[in-house]
Amino acid sequence: MQQRGSPGVGARVATALGMLCFCFTGAVEVQVPEEPVVALVGTDATLRCSFSPEPDFSLAQLNLIWQLTDTKQLVHSFAEGRDQGSAYANRTTLFPDLLAKGNASLRLQGVRVADEGSFTCFVSIRDFSSAAVNLQVAAPYSKPSMTLEPNKDLRPGDMVTITCSSYQGYPEAKVLWQDAQGASLASNVVTSQMANEQGLFDVRSVLRAELGAYGTYSCLVRNPVLQQDAHGSVTITGPPMIFPPEALWVTVGLSVCLVALLVALAFVCWRKIKQSCEEENAGAEDQDEEGSKTALRPLKHSENKDDDGPEIA
Ligand SMILES: *[C@@H]1O[C@H](CO)[C@@H](O)[C@H](O)[C@H]1NC(C)=O
Ligand SMILES: *[C@@H]1O[C@H](CO)[C@@H](O)[C@H](O)[C@H]1NC(C)=O
Repeated sequence: MQQRGSPGVGARVATALGMLCFCFTGAVEVQVPEEPVVALVGTDATLRCSFSPEPDFSLAQLNLIWQLTDTKQLVHSFAEGRDQGSAYANRTTLFPDLLAKGNASLRLQGVRVADEGSFTCFVSIRDFSSAAVNLQVAAPYSKPSMTLEPNKDLRPGDMVTITCSSYQGYPEAKVLWQDAQGASLASNVVTSQMANEQGLFDVRSVLRAELGAYGTYSCLVRNPVLQQDAHGSVTITGPPMIFPPEALWVTVGLSVCLVALLVALAFVCWRKIKQSCEEENAGAEDQDEEGSKTALRPLKHSENKDDDGPEIA
């Protein structure tokens, strides 16, 4: 700024005032995006800034200063017809080829949470002007990991604790819970967000609820800047279909009873059938001649004797 060609006293005072507060504008029109520039952590961001150079403009006339709006900390500058380099940990560059066309954009490498904020683009040619652009840093949240406590023999009415954890997001998340019916759960939810050394948040949300029905409970971790939701869910099912020991013994007992009953029934039936057969035979022979029953027996005996004969001999 000091190295101006032949600055008038007025211009010098005006420049000094501009440096102090950037509160009034000159004829140079400086344009920056109105909307914040959203940049993901770790990526490079371009903070756009442009001015309208006059036809006889040469870079020697240009004083360009990028600085942090709040602290006035110098970020990058162009003066004396050349790039003065980055004052921001060597992480910034200008677009030298575009400067003469009025493009004073700043490239910031490897965006970090700490970079978030307002950057002022100050342009001085004969007049001066400035405008501030906001950098909004963002990082997507990881897919939540879920835990369920207790995690077995759950029945409706039991109290359950479901924990939803998601990591390394920015800015702070909004956590939403849904029960098995899809109804949102707002009470009995405790959500904590802890920033790590890089400023990224680890989110932990704990839902404590009475189990209304079996089904899927879901946790949604929403990044308000990226409009990105990370979903996690835990599905609670009824007790598995294996018999508890008591039921097993009851089943075995009943089965034994049933088998015994069937055997008894079969025996009774067999007796009945045999009886009725014998009676039928007896009845039939009774019709032919009486005493055939008695006559049959000696025959059987004789048959038996014939059979037994060889054994005895
Ligand atoms: C920036 O780069 C220059 C030249 O390469 C080097 O001398 C200086 O130490 C660097 N500064 C930082 C903060 O890295
Ligand atoms: C300035 O240059 C940057 C980097 O190439 C570009 O993204 C931006 O759109 C340019 N701005 C204008 C106003 O042309």
